[in-house]
Amino acid sequence: MKFFVDTAEIAEIRELADTGLLDGVTTNPSLIKKSGRDFKETIKEICAITDGPVSAEVVATDYEGMVRQGEDLAKIAKNVTIKVPLTLPGLKACKYFTSQGTMVNVTLCFSAAQALLAAKAGATFISPFVGRLDDVGQDGLTLIQEIVTIYNNYPEFETQVLVASVRNPIHIVESAKMGAHVMTAPPSVIKALVNHPLTDKGLEQFLKDWAATGQKL
Ligand code: E4P
Repeated sequence: MKFFVDTAEIAEIRELADTGLLDGVTTNPSLIKKSGRDFKETIKEICAITDGPVSAEVVATDYEGMVRQGEDLAKIAKNVTIKVPLTLPGLKACKYFTSQGTMVNVTLCFSAAQALLAAKAGATFISPFVGRLDDVGQDGLTLIQEIVTIYNNYPEFETQVLVASVRNPIHIVESAKMGAHVMTAPPSVIKALVNHPLTDKGLEQFLKDWAATGQKL
């Protein structure tokens, strides 16, 4: 499973990239707002940190506007992935960018039917939002299972399932069990994956016993 981080904070991206575990970055207009920084400058800086796909979202809602904004964003770096919403103009723009050899992330997916359309439009990634579905009392992980099953039925689909709106390690582990290709999560959730109280307890005991041997390495 590829790991993307869902943030526009340069320091957080750099810290995770330094671990060698990061495969890409996703941003959205809300994350850009939170960063308080210039959108295109931020995308440029992120692309200099990672060679992996970096999602930059268009904000136009019409096809022509999406193409104009997407082409502008794609000029920033080779690894810019144009993020378009799951609307008819968004799917048309997805088809256009794919035909140009530009990666596309179709975002705001909340149903299997929408994911089917994104694959038909040649999306590089489909982003189903698990956390936001859970928030409204629907099971986000069930949607991941449905999309993985549908995509597996059609080997001609090259679209990767990018599990988005991830809130906790369970979302990640369960999606990995289902065979989702990618997940994107906030830095705090990625870091939470490493924690286990028995690891901390075991390490503490090993270090105590090692000190008692009086040996040095
Ligand atoms: C995905 O690309 C989105 O940026 C993101 O995962 C949305 O997550 P949220 O529901 O936590 O805002």
